[in-house]
Amino acid sequence: MWNIVEAARLLKNLDKEDIRILMAIEQGMKKSEFTPIKNIRFFSRYPIEETLYRLNRVHKFGFLIRNSSGNEIGYKLNSMGYDLLALHSLVEKETISQLGPLLGKGKESDVYSCMDNDENIYALKIYRMGRTSFKNIKRYRNIIGERSHMSWLYVNRLAAKREYETLKKIYTLDLNTPKPIGHNRHIIVMEYLRGKELAYYKDIDDPVYILNEIIEQMREIYKKGNVVHGDLGEFNIIADEDGKILIIDWLQSLPSSHPNANIILKRDIKNICDYFGSKYNVECDVEKILETFIKEN
Ligand SMILES: Nc1ncnc2c1ncn2[C@@H]1O[C@H](COP(=O)(O)OP(=O)(O)OP(=O)(O)O)[C@@H](O)[C@H]1O
Ligand SMILES: [Mg+2]
Repeated sequence: MWNIVEAARLLKNLDKEDIRILMAIEQGMKKSEFTPIKNIRFFSRYPIEETLYRLNRVHKFGFLIRNSSGNEIGYKLNSMGYDLLALHSLVEKETISQLGPLLGKGKESDVYSCMDNDENIYALKIYRMGRTSFKNIKRYRNIIGERSHMSWLYVNRLAAKREYETLKKIYTLDLNTPKPIGHNRHIIVMEYLRGKELAYYKDIDDPVYILNEIIEQMREIYKKGNVVHGDLGEFNIIADEDGKILIIDWLQSLPSSHPNANIILKRDIKNICDYFGSKYNVECDVEKILETFIKEN
């Protein structure tokens, strides 16, 4: 369950040869569910003795699933193996140097804090789709197509890439969206705001100000970034004690040119209006706000 914590701990005990074996297995998994030993050897370019020694080691560490039911023995990465490879790359690139505690559990991801060498703290989001939610899996089914044997790896990698690309794009607008720091495989690293979701505040000082701030930002992102959030609500906005906000969770975002963009945009605005309306009695007219988005665009 705490795969990534275990992976981060074990990373320190692994040799570069162990990593190379895991990467060889990963490479083979593009073609088939299990990578046969001869292919692991081929991709790693190690002699057979070294290959077998390393395989045995990483298997004992718990990164692999072994299959001996066919006519040749093969291995695949389990999710901890995949976590390990992603962490390893992020550490190599010096994007991060340490994993911190769990910050939050989403529907389809776990989010941890992490640190780089200069002790900057970031949020690390690790995609775990297929665990509880099937909503998005449906969306990706057409992309996965025939490659069903690698669906989890692929879907999660794709999700991370997609959210990262969106973060990169909207970050240029200089608003309250997380600065993208780095990504690898199914993990993204981004700016962290120490606070909690709006939903968990019993009361806030100036709800009208916060609401306007959110709406204005969504409008700029729509108009200048051509992006609609798609899952806006009190759980995807972090606020700190000073009233600073961070609009997170951009996986569901879509381009404003998408045929459904305006329906989704309306839903986003309605979610926010409903929340501020019922909790803080703030007046919020969805249609009026929507007009300011569509007009003069
Ligand atoms: N940049 C961040 N700074 C601080 N906390 C964060 C950050 N990103 C995520 N979190 C915490 O992690 C939780 C889950 O993150 P997020 O909403 O991005 O994932 P999710 O809900 O799984 O996504 P999805 O809606 O795609 O399923 C957040 O509710 C929040 O508590
Ligand atoms: Mg969320």
